[in-house]
Amino acid sequence: MSVINTPEEIQYFLDQYQQAFNNGMLQRLVLSKYQGNDSELKRITVRPVLIKNNLLLSFLYEYQTNHITKNLGLDESLVLLSQWLGADFKNAHLVSQSAEIQLRFSKKGKPLLSEHRSETTKAKPEANAHLSHNREKSRFVKQDRPYLTVLGVTDAQGQIIPAMSRKWKQINKFIEVLSGAIENTGLTKQAEIHIADFGSGKAYLTFAVHDYLNDSLAIKPQVTGVELRQNLVDLCNQTATKLNLNGIKFEQGDVQHFAAQNINIMIALHACDTATDYAINMGIRSKADIIMCSPCCHKQIRPQLKSPSILAPLLQHGIHLGQEAEMVTDGLRALLLEANGYDTQVFEFISLEHTNKNKMILAQKRQQPRDNSEVLAQIAELKHFYGIKEHCLEQLLQA
Ligand SMILES: C[S@@+](CC[C@H](N)C(=O)[O-])C[C@H]1O[C@@H](n2cnc3c(N)ncnc32)[C@H](O)[C@@H]1O
Repeated sequence: MSVINTPEEIQYFLDQYQQAFNNGMLQRLVLSKYQGNDSELKRITVRPVLIKNNLLLSFLYEYQTNHITKNLGLDESLVLLSQWLGADFKNAHLVSQSAEIQLRFSKKGKPLLSEHRSETTKAKPEANAHLSHNREKSRFVKQDRPYLTVLGVTDAQGQIIPAMSRKWKQINKFIEVLSGAIENTGLTKQAEIHIADFGSGKAYLTFAVHDYLNDSLAIKPQVTGVELRQNLVDLCNQTATKLNLNGIKFEQGDVQHFAAQNINIMIALHACDTATDYAINMGIRSKADIIMCSPCCHKQIRPQLKSPSILAPLLQHGIHLGQEAEMVTDGLRALLLEANGYDTQVFEFISLEHTNKNKMILAQKRQQPRDNSEVLAQIAELKHFYGIKEHCLEQLLQA
């Protein structure tokens, strides 16, 4: 990590941004510490996006209550960035496949640049070759798979790009959990497996599951990623074409209105708020063998919660109330899955870079039906205790 203080820092930063974009190495640019006039704006994240064969930059404006996206050409983006850096935004973090560069501004407005080149970290695996070899053996995902390079997780030499190491761990953990569930539910005996991934986003995990089934288990996968954002759907379909893959497609849609049938595995990772409930409902209704979700945001239950007055000193802190809402929402989801014929576990998963939610609910369909009256009674008691009138998943299952 080198730190340089020169007036040319902004220009250097912009040059690196431009170069990374032109070389196809740009992953993201995050502008934060906003000090401009818009009281609602929190930060802006910039990523490359392919629209009608034009490589543009997608600017995601993150406001307190909503997000807005604007797609710009490189020149236009450079004009804005040169106006914003140091004036409106006091921090800028550039992540490319070869470097991470941070430009921040001191209280006196002095630019401070720190840079971390991935070449230096790339040298380490050779020095610790025996360690990497051991780690490699315990992994579920092979590091040399082409989709990892196309998605920017590995470089052309098959090395993990340092900025993507968390994503690499997440992919591995996800496949490890899925692999156990496929084994438990007997899906390994099937020639073909149908998978729906709701809120597939950039589809790192969607491509990972397709590749794992196809390459490691030699089972024909039929994977559908469902995503609200058309630009991500287009990007992921282009990636599938580029990789020459069969049995994977992406559709634009809202999980709330999507009709799915004959799903073996239903996945919803970090789908926002009640989108998780809609996905679980669809998984249960289509009799999926495996339902895997990692919930994100728990807005529905929180305002309904009533707790005994003895807990008031603990729950006066918003963070505790949020944790309680999360536990109750997900605990009830797990019980509702149990009541609907699934053995369910709730455990720690690896969070995404932009959310600290790290919980997974894994439900595996029971071979034999079981009396669910006790679980239903537990659900009713819990709802009564917390004063909950509405739980989205319960309502969907009753509809
Ligand atoms: C945080 S990202 C997670 C992406 C991916 N599942 C992962 O874990 O890497 C959540 C994605 O869900 C999408 N999404 C949110 N609500 C949705 C809905 N109701 N229907 C479909 N997609 C939704 C968002 O557009 C976003 O791309």
